[in-house]
Amino acid sequence: MRASVATIAAGMLVACSSPQNVLNPRGPAASSIAQLWWVMFALATLVCVIVTILLLVGMMHARRRERGRRATEVSGRALVVGGGVAIPAVILFGLLVYNFRVGVAVYAPTAAADDALTIEVVGHQFWWEVRYPQSEIVTANEIRIPAGEQVRFVLHAPDVIHSFWVPQLHGKLDMIPGRRHTIYMEAGSPGMFRGQCAEYCGMGHALMAFWVEALPPEEFESWIADRRAAALEEAADTSGQEIFVRAGCAQCHGTQGRLETGTVRAGPDLAGLANRRRIAAGTLVNGREQLRRWIEDPQQIKPGSLMPPSVLDPQEMEALLDYLQSRP
Ligand code: CUA
Repeated sequence: MRASVATIAAGMLVACSSPQNVLNPRGPAASSIAQLWWVMFALATLVCVIVTILLLVGMMHARRRERGRRATEVSGRALVVGGGVAIPAVILFGLLVYNFRVGVAVYAPTAAADDALTIEVVGHQFWWEVRYPQSEIVTANEIRIPAGEQVRFVLHAPDVIHSFWVPQLHGKLDMIPGRRHTIYMEAGSPGMFRGQCAEYCGMGHALMAFWVEALPPEEFESWIADRRAAALEEAADTSGQEIFVRAGCAQCHGTQGRLETGTVRAGPDLAGLANRRRIAAGTLVNGREQLRRWIEDPQQIKPGSLMPPSVLDPQEMEALLDYLQSRP
């Protein structure tokens, strides 16, 4: 018993400090949503306590009646109409109005949104393409944003329905094939926030995670400038690059990080791969060994992944890893 209480308490503590906790909001929209949650929780608790007390009182009265004593009778109809219909109707209607107001407010752009930074996020089975159309760069699975600014996210999906969710910054929004949805998100201060696909989209769904990193605005600007410079830099011819093409990697992956309208890639762009914290949409910590395991047998690591295994001799593999880890 003591052990299970300790386990639950530890779980709750982990949940509080985790980077994906709705109740630890880090932006204005998420704060409104967390507040809504607490109001609903408080009201539900209050109702639960009152109903429990009434139930206990009722049981005590029934026992007294059994003993032959006369119980004080409360009009049954008043109790049913008042406690069972009128009070719940008032509470539920109040919550409905509050919920609706919060929903409208958090999904509406503010006045500053007109010249907001736009980031297009495309949900793929099972990874996230991240486009910065104003800077003409593209990356994957890690989204950098400036802290303290409202950012416009335009969401879509070419294959099946995914759902974009960064619990510490905002509510969920579905990504529906054939549609484009917009959500405005703001991180109040710099930090790392975990996001997760929140709509079952196939075998790799649970391993379809991403990170949003809010940077101080000047750091964000210099990151954008670096990515732009890398996107324009011509790649030097190396044996690794030749293997990348010969092994078929280039059919699905770009390595330039340059956003070209009209090109649709089946896999993430790998420019700047060495600087990413994780690979395979949050599944593995980024490192040479993990990258090797991933290239050799993606299904082992992420069942359902659309990436096929690659059979390379050890020398070729080393050259390929060198190439991937050196992409600026
Ligand atoms: Cu994408 Cu679930």
